Amino acid sequence: MFKKNKVEDGVTEEVVMAALSTVMDPELHKDLVSLGMIRDVKIDGGDVTFTIVLTTPSCPLKGVMQKDAEKALLPISGVERVHIKWDSNVPADLRIGGQMGKHFRNTIAVSSGKGGVGKTTISVNLAIALAQDGSRVGLLDADILGPNVPLMMGIEKMPPPRNQKLIPAERFGVKVISMAFMVKPDQPLIWRGAMLHSAINQLLSDVEWGELDYLVIDLPPGTGDAQLTLAQVLPLTGSVVVTQPMKVAAADTLRGLKMFEKLDVPILGIVENMSGELFGTGAGKMLAESQNVPYFGSVPLQTAVRVGGDAGEPVIVAHPDSEAAVALREVAGKIAARVSVLTMQKQTPTFIPIEMVG
Ligand SMILES: Nc1ncnc2c1ncn2[C@@H]1O[C@H](COP(=O)(O)OP(=O)(O)OP(=O)(O)O)[C@@H](O)[C@H]1O
Ligand SMILES: [Mg+2]
Repeated sequence: MFKKNKVEDGVTEEVVMAALSTVMDPELHKDLVSLGMIRDVKIDGGDVTFTIVLTTPSCPLKGVMQKDAEKALLPISGVERVHIKWDSNVPADLRIGGQMGKHFRNTIAVSSGKGGVGKTTISVNLAIALAQDGSRVGLLDADILGPNVPLMMGIEKMPPPRNQKLIPAERFGVKVISMAFMVKPDQPLIWRGAMLHSAINQLLSDVEWGELDYLVIDLPPGTGDAQLTLAQVLPLTGSVVVTQPMKVAAADTLRGLKMFEKLDVPILGIVENMSGELFGTGAGKMLAESQNVPYFGSVPLQTAVRVGGDAGEPVIVAHPDSEAAVALREVAGKIAARVSVLTMQKQTPTFIPIEMVG
């Protein structure tokens, strides 16, 4: 049994807040009270109830925070039970700003140095995982020349436009826009430079996106016009870099990663995809370590992933308990947490509620 600290007048809100100000957010490395994350403290006899407002509903470290909060509160005399409610308010990346800032709180590009490594697969499953956790999520298919998102999401067409704005298709809780909706499948797309710029711009600006916590952007492979255009048109919170697990993939991945650094786009981290017996494992972790960026984990090569993509029912929906789906959800949580950290670093002064200052 704990030896309880004595509180003469019973448990008060001040006592609870003081205790919670010793509990750190494991990602942001500040205490929950200074971060303004504690709301609605209620004390009813020995029951202490309060809400923790997370910076993302996909927070992978809820369990740690819950344990730490209990550890801080239960030793107080009079506290018998701790009830935590969870809420979230995804902070906005202030760099986005302007018209785009009204729609997108955070923008996450998914990229790779070369083709076929699983960008679209990661993009659709990431978007769905974030939406399943409760965020408002959009998915922009920025692969203008080879748009695959609609196929993998099982979407055939968009709703009709309204007030001269495009209305995104919606499936699995995700708002989706793709060039594939606007052209016939057998129509070759030969666009370069200025046209590509205007196409990507339209898909961002002429769309009724509403307000989104995250816009996930599926990029074409490599280091070409589309990446450049996107970075010019829309401030990116960061880029997730997808790599295959074999060592020979590392050089291409590194090229892709360096291009984003040149464009001043933060690297969120690296995901290794298609790990297992066939392609091995290791390039993702090795690259992340050598480049000093986070490693989000590896997604195994599994038939269910390919089948899910072909059938328009991504693995995270079709087989939520498969090894790949579990890995994809874990990756999504880590990406969301990393986005929170980057976004909070840019705006800490304005996030602290006035009453907490001083
Ligand atoms: N972990 C995995 N296990 C099995 N199949 C996978 C996995 N990841 C992706 N695939 C399959 O590999 C193929 C290529 O994946 P995907 O289209 O996502 O790659 P991409 O990087 O977007 O390609 P591109 O560069 O052409 O845009 C798809 O058929 C997809 O279903
Ligand atoms: Mg793709």
